[in-house]
Amino acid sequence: MKSRFLHFQYLPMSLRVLFSMVLLVFGTGYLMAMIQVWESHAGKDGKPMLTAQDLVISYSGNPDGTKMETSLRGPMADMLPAEKREVIFTWLHNKAPAEEFDAKINPILQEHCVACHQPDANPHLPDLRTADAVAKVTAKDTGMNIVTLVRVSHIHLFSITFIFFILGFIYTHAYVRPAWFKCVVLATPFLSLIVDVAAWYLTKVWTGFAWAVIIGGALYGVAFTIMWVTSMRQMWFYKLPQDLIDSEGELPRMDG
Ligand code: HEC
Repeated sequence: MKSRFLHFQYLPMSLRVLFSMVLLVFGTGYLMAMIQVWESHAGKDGKPMLTAQDLVISYSGNPDGTKMETSLRGPMADMLPAEKREVIFTWLHNKAPAEEFDAKINPILQEHCVACHQPDANPHLPDLRTADAVAKVTAKDTGMNIVTLVRVSHIHLFSITFIFFILGFIYTHAYVRPAWFKCVVLATPFLSLIVDVAAWYLTKVWTGFAWAVIIGGALYGVAFTIMWVTSMRQMWFYKLPQDLIDSEGELPRMDG
């Protein structure tokens, strides 16, 4: 006996409405996730686009730089005039000598940075009021630390599995030929997820793995789009081919 699944057109209206609403919210959530990826990585290498180098810097750090320099070449670049940035870069490239801090660096930080970078204003930002506190962002940039990576990975693994289980479950009701293609689309996000998360750690060992992060991320995107568009379309704007119904009866056999 062949196994069967029910096409969307045999599902009650209530279930199709439920599925569609979930898809709408997931679609919006996906856009937000893309913006978030962009915001947290793009520009770290000084170029405005999101590049493999940005991911290398995020995960494995910047061998030539410090967190301070990475930020001043990225999101913090507009906070101070270019010539003052150069003063800070020169100081950093000379290994941030403590004796120059008070005369050269502290005045710049006081004028342009501490309005935001102090615990009273933003407790989650690095404190830039004293030499000791500043030292934390002038140490060699080694990227995201393992504790942070583990925290982000477990959230990522659970939440993305959840999303692709629900999305995939909806998509199983679509009529897609060949059946193996449907299975590949269903499996792709889970495999990409493992590759993506593993590559965050591996990028620390060999920076070429940043490409695995990009390819893994792109594959979720492709699978997400195929499942979303196919499900939405077949739910509302599609009738199963009549010859399939004729040859297989009211509830056509549809393996896969
Ligand atoms: C208007 C508020 C504001 C000012 C002024 C500001 N920053 Fe920031 N800074 C932020 C915010 C918000 C973040 C975190 C978000 C981000 O990375 O874009 C941040 C992040 C940073 C980080 C990275 C922290 C980390 O743990 O990754 C560094 C380093 C930094 N700023 C240095 C500076 C320096 C140096 C100046 C002065 C030239 C400066 N900031 C001025 C708001 C500010």
